[in-house]
Amino acid sequence: MRHYLIAVYLLGLINLISCVHSDLNYRFRNFETVYQWSHVNFTWSSYEQYITAVQRRTYIPENIMMGGIKFYGDYMFIALPKHRSGVPVTLTYLYNDAEDTQTNRLLTPYPSWELNDERNCFNLQSMLSMEIDTKGVMWAIDGLRATNNVRCPPKLVLMDLQRQGERIQTYFFPNEICLQNGGYLNDIVIDEANGEYAYITDNSNIDPGLIVYSRYQNRAWKLRDSSMFAEPGTANYVINGYRFTDLSPIDGIALSTLSSNRTVYYTALTGYSLYGIGTETLQDEELCRTGDWRSNVTFIGAKEGHTDGMMVDSQGNLFYTLMSLYGVGKWNTFEPFESSRQVYTDRDNFDWADGLGMDQRGFLYLITTRAYTFLDSNYVLEFNSDIKFRIFKLYTGTRSYLYNDLYYS
Ligand SMILES: *[C@@H]1O[C@H](CO)[C@@H](O)[C@H](O)[C@H]1NC(C)=O
Ligand SMILES: *[C@@H]1O[C@H](CO)[C@@H](O)[C@H](O)[C@H]1NC(C)=O
Ligand SMILES: *[C@@H]1O[C@H](CO)[C@@H](O)[C@H](O)[C@H]1NC(C)=O
Repeated sequence: MRHYLIAVYLLGLINLISCVHSDLNYRFRNFETVYQWSHVNFTWSSYEQYITAVQRRTYIPENIMMGGIKFYGDYMFIALPKHRSGVPVTLTYLYNDAEDTQTNRLLTPYPSWELNDERNCFNLQSMLSMEIDTKGVMWAIDGLRATNNVRCPPKLVLMDLQRQGERIQTYFFPNEICLQNGGYLNDIVIDEANGEYAYITDNSNIDPGLIVYSRYQNRAWKLRDSSMFAEPGTANYVINGYRFTDLSPIDGIALSTLSSNRTVYYTALTGYSLYGIGTETLQDEELCRTGDWRSNVTFIGAKEGHTDGMMVDSQGNLFYTLMSLYGVGKWNTFEPFESSRQVYTDRDNFDWADGLGMDQRGFLYLITTRAYTFLDSNYVLEFNSDIKFRIFKLYTGTRSYLYNDLYYS
């Protein structure tokens, strides 16, 4: 009886999501562009502020790269990692209302200009990504320390989006866990079900690894393993004429659908292999201090190409970007990995398929960023009208891994 009621409830929920959007359902059956930018610009407080920033070169529009996108209610949050100089803020948002393609929408700093002021190490410095839990708390990884643009230790910042981003917690990573000079916190997933943990990839070239953070203990520990290193045999690929030779370690991360024993999936940026490790292992700090946890790493399979962002949805589908193939792949995690395949391709517009995010209305979003132009400090960036960033939207009828929309009978 109880199971029946839960099933009825869940079915109702799914129907609710799909009914509301049945009209949009038709339109977004493939990834469609909703936002695009030739350069990033902001809702400045005044014209004087803008002019001063241009003159002092604290705002250099062509130098600003977009990073992770995440959703809460009607808002889309966008991180701006500081790979170059002239990036005045690192966390922004926009009101997510586009029905047709919008060009060069202005971004608003979040929580404020002041809290993005890099002169104070408690403020947001340089972040590539974040996650937003089901209670409206953003977990921001302020940890791009691989460039010389930031002088502060890397940190994890928890902000309450229902209270204008009020700070809940700040955790500074000690150097043994993430390097102040050379660390690169890349992506994060949250495990709310079993005690509020975060699993974070450190893409550092010096000390790459998988970091576990326990919110209750306010502690972190790090796992280092050869499965997190780049696979040199897969290096040296070409994207839109640019030869990418970096040996880039662990980057993409995803957490399996809600259950008591979940799997964290990860993959090196330069590599095809997808690995998994159980959250029970990750949460056991003592075990992680030994070498014994390594026997719990499982090789899941080899993907078709190189992946940056990836994400599991509320029905157990893993979506993974395929930058070098201008596409996105999909794997139903309840099926053998051999059933995975590249399901979307856009040779002209997926110019470095970078990150994924999901709203709570049944849409999956993809951001493409031309990351190779920002990462290579010898690449000369130009201020022109070419489109550098695109955000695409696809109707899946599901939500993110933070929610469970599975049908139980
Ligand atoms: C940025 O936006 C302001 C308005 O907020 C505008 O006056 C300015 O010309 C824009 N600059 C660029 C480089 O887009
Ligand atoms: C938990 O999941 C891992 C894989 O992620 C698996 O190796 C392990 O056996 C599972 N444990 C239980 C108790 O199901
Ligand atoms: C980890 O692997 C060991 C050895 O294979 C096994 O005994 C243990 O149950 C695994 N632990 C988890 C949490 O999966």
